[in-house]
Amino acid sequence: MPGLMRDLPARRTTQGQSATTFRAVDKNVWRLLSFLEARPDRQPGSVRTRVVKRRGVALAASVVVFASACAGGTTANVGPQATSTSAPSGPATSNPTGTTVVSHPAGSLQGLAEPSGVLIGTAVDSAALIAEVPYRDTLAKDFGIVTPENDMKWGLIHPERDRYDFAKADQIVDFAQAHGQQVHGHNLAWHNQNPDWLEHGTFTRDELIQILHDHISTVVGHFKGRIAMWDVVNEAIESDGSLRQTVWSKGIGPDYLELAFTFAHDADPTAKLYYNDYALELGGPKTEAVYNIVRDLKNKGVPIDGVGFQTHLVNQVSPRAANFAPILQRFVDLGLDVAITEFDDAIKLTAGTTAAADLEQQAVTYREFVHACLTQVRCRSFTMWGFTDQHSWIPSILPGLGAGLPLDKNYQPKPAYQAMVDELRSTAPATPKR
Ligand code: XIL
Repeated sequence: MPGLMRDLPARRTTQGQSATTFRAVDKNVWRLLSFLEARPDRQPGSVRTRVVKRRGVALAASVVVFASACAGGTTANVGPQATSTSAPSGPATSNPTGTTVVSHPAGSLQGLAEPSGVLIGTAVDSAALIAEVPYRDTLAKDFGIVTPENDMKWGLIHPERDRYDFAKADQIVDFAQAHGQQVHGHNLAWHNQNPDWLEHGTFTRDELIQILHDHISTVVGHFKGRIAMWDVVNEAIESDGSLRQTVWSKGIGPDYLELAFTFAHDADPTAKLYYNDYALELGGPKTEAVYNIVRDLKNKGVPIDGVGFQTHLVNQVSPRAANFAPILQRFVDLGLDVAITEFDDAIKLTAGTTAAADLEQQAVTYREFVHACLTQVRCRSFTMWGFTDQHSWIPSILPGLGAGLPLDKNYQPKPAYQAMVDELRSTAPATPKR
């Protein structure tokens, strides 16, 4: 995307951005991240399965096939008594809740993060989970928390007003439970990837509140006790700090946020409830507006537990991490948890390849942001928006950019992966346990 890069400052510094450079960066990062308004969704292929309930845990009828694939062809069960056969994880035991407890290998990302209590996470592409052995093995080995990349969004989980489809989300949750991983639910109120019946329906305010309530109580209720944290409201604020005009804000008004949090809490009082957004690492009007909103929600006693910083970066363009720690701290000072929820660091590709200097800079950036989370005691998780460049949303959305994740397309570690290992190895044991 050469036009996009042309007017950027040649080099970013970590400190003292002038107002001009801030605006330039903000403008360009904003343009990069505003793709979804202009672009129809790319939805992964669908697999329809019948859902049955067994001992309170929803199992897809196709899960045995799926689990067999996960096990590389050997038979495995998925669900309360399942054990992992798909990854080189540590010993597995079962606990009273039925979730299989699997210790992550000592040298894996999650294994190294263990002393800190920070969870290392990734978005999960359900099609890759079914189709690719290295995908499943890496997912099971390196990660302690997983976020369904698309499968809990309204359009997929609630495609018609009277029909929910939990099949693919269940597969991810079942995989996570079988591999000792927690689940980050994403999301319950957003302006993208909504079903047509919702976006183009005509509803009174009361009807929309009822729809929001029914969706949240059904979806959160379906996964009750199995989701550690939910992104309740996603991306409600524009870059200038104004409330985004969405089906929710237009149809209900600004109080849709507190309604959504309250409905989610009622449906699963144990899940941690987050407001999630992008470009909050920039500081500036959007970060301030989100700060004011979550402060007011907290002051009103609305059940909000944390703020998710998506942190979609553009290598050599986005601000580095030096200003990030104080931003996290401000939110923590409100009595909230924080989490890095969708980290990636897109590189400008030249003829499809990456320059060594870009990979080195990317490694530094990964290390700095992992460090910021590790050293903030209320930072609960560092989640990347995928882990292999083979399955990343960046190139399809932003042609000319890519390679934002720590493993290359062949699942080989890039410098960013080693940088995370080095950072976790040196810093995790020295941080206070969450
Ligand atoms: C993206 C997915 O990665 C894509 O597969 C999909 O086509 C569009 O959505 N912020 C969010 C995520 O909160 O849900 C988005 O995920 C990326 C930006």
